[in-house]
Amino acid sequence: MTLEQPSRESSATNENNTRMSDGECRTLPNAAERKSPHASTTLGMVRLTSSQNVQGEGSSEKIRPTSQAVIPTYLASKTAESLDGKNAWHQPEKHEVEDEKDVVTMTFPDGKVVELPLKKGQLGTERFIDIQTLYAKSGHFTYDPGCGNTATCSSAITYISGEDGICLYRGYPVKDLCENCEYLETCYLLLWGDIPSPTELAVFKSVVMSSSLVHEKFKKFFDGFPDQTHPMSIMVSACGALSGFFNDSLNIWEPADREITAMRIIGKLPTIAAMAYKTAIGEPIVYPRSDLTYAENFLHMMFASPLCHFEVNPVHAQALDKFLILHADHEQNASTSTVRIAGSSQANPFACMAAGIASLWGPAHGGANEAVIKMLSEIGSVDNIDQFLADVKAKKDGVRLMGFGHRVYKNFDPRARYMKILVQDVLNTLDCLDPDLELAMALEEKALSDEYFVKRKLYPNVDFYSGILLRAIGIPTAMYTVLFALGRSIGWICQWRELVSEKQMRIGRPRQIYVGVGERDVVSMKDVLAAADEADGGHHNTSSQMTEKLQCHNAAASNVPGSKMYGNMGRIANKYAST
Ligand SMILES: CC(C)(COP(=O)(O)OP(=O)(O)OC[C@H]1O[C@@H](n2cnc3c(N)ncnc32)[C@H](O)[C@@H]1OP(=O)(O)O)[C@@H](O)C(=O)NCCC(=O)NCCS
Repeated sequence: MTLEQPSRESSATNENNTRMSDGECRTLPNAAERKSPHASTTLGMVRLTSSQNVQGEGSSEKIRPTSQAVIPTYLASKTAESLDGKNAWHQPEKHEVEDEKDVVTMTFPDGKVVELPLKKGQLGTERFIDIQTLYAKSGHFTYDPGCGNTATCSSAITYISGEDGICLYRGYPVKDLCENCEYLETCYLLLWGDIPSPTELAVFKSVVMSSSLVHEKFKKFFDGFPDQTHPMSIMVSACGALSGFFNDSLNIWEPADREITAMRIIGKLPTIAAMAYKTAIGEPIVYPRSDLTYAENFLHMMFASPLCHFEVNPVHAQALDKFLILHADHEQNASTSTVRIAGSSQANPFACMAAGIASLWGPAHGGANEAVIKMLSEIGSVDNIDQFLADVKAKKDGVRLMGFGHRVYKNFDPRARYMKILVQDVLNTLDCLDPDLELAMALEEKALSDEYFVKRKLYPNVDFYSGILLRAIGIPTAMYTVLFALGRSIGWICQWRELVSEKQMRIGRPRQIYVGVGERDVVSMKDVLAAADEADGGHHNTSSQMTEKLQCHNAAASNVPGSKMYGNMGRIANKYAST
């Protein structure tokens, strides 16, 4: 895990010294001479009063912090159709899943013939066999590990096409959103189905920022983690812990409560992510600032320090904003499906988000961005690429080319294409060189011309270049997956909201093919010992003798490799002893 602070940190306390988002403290002109880099980006933003800025959320119902009152007011204004004359309560456009004219006929070994309907969605050529009645009609289930062939819901949020390399949020190509919108516009789009007007965006921003504080008591929660705890571990725990602050007052069947929850997730996740980082490196937590953009605020909370003034580099902020858009949603991936499954039991939405973060952490999913950087550092130089690829192809120790391959994209990942261009642009603008970029490009080129990868349709995915981008912004490696979680949190909450509001709540409960031992009788330890006593003519009849004998039996059994008991406790005990 790399939790190093940006190495160029300064300890200067001069008030003219400004800590930049790359970790440097630079001497800037006096405040009067300074032109705020945020001046243009905050234009049109609804500024909050100072009292709104200093209050936390999740307090008792009687004394409500001002910021908590902002959201209901906002929602009331939306219901009153006051924003640009539109009714913001309307559900985003959703087309019915169409029934096809054709049906599929299945013939079973017993001669039974079953007809199943075919369905299709709004875009793409894929057809889906509706198997909801399959068991009732045929007595058969389907077997599909990893759900590679199975749709478990209908959704109107994101469309991706693996063959054509398309990724649309509510119909808009993700690349176009990166080029024309900011992250909060994208959040609004994903939530309410279209890009907001300037007024809608300004109000939305102010509401999101007003929910960015966490309860003061929540800070203590972070104290319990040991030094160098991985920030994803803190994220899982902290997001789950938020459910303790927002549970009793939250009714998931109430539309307004779902909207409030969505805005709390968008507002609080950056604060928690930055708190996770500050906790991990032992620095004081930095409070959010509502006068900054979403990305600027996050960088401020990550890198500001009481030692000196901090100024966000606008190039970093813009790059981070685009990174967040590229990760905002990706239909039914592992973490989103996890959120939906958790949500299907009607669990608290913050707990569902924690489940999503846990699923994202693994290197086969969001953890791949961190794994790519580790892989590049292990490869070390262009000269070692051939050997590395040979190891991948030989599946040596299960090594994979991280940042390559995707369950859906079998041609190219449009997010990866955009990410590559973005990385190059950002490094050029910052006038930076990153040797890993050259290495990654050489690795990509070699892999794409290698039969192993061509045959399996393995292409770079969004994680292949994203770590290099984050490093250019000054983000430490261990935070890469946290940043993915931050971007994806809007997707998770939108999918959860769609699930609950459309009552697609049939609990997620897959089947299995059982391959374990057949049914057998329980033989109690008492009976085993009694049988043993009888066999050796012993007289251990009192309970203490019995216990003593049982302990001896366990101790002996757990020390005998090959015995059943050794298999369980013996191995664990030996492992403990050796670590
Ligand atoms: C993303 C991923 C999990 C998709 O997995 P999947 O759809 O279940 O594909 P499979 O694991 O069934 O792989 C199919 C074949 O391609 C190979 N393969 C898949 N991804 C590979 C990779 N990154 N490097 C090397 N081989 C890979 C598998 O070994 C398998 O080969 P085989 O047919 O000889 O057994 C997988 O491609 C992967 O592990 N990629 C690396 C991690 C990563 O970048 N994750 C981020 C995803 S956005």
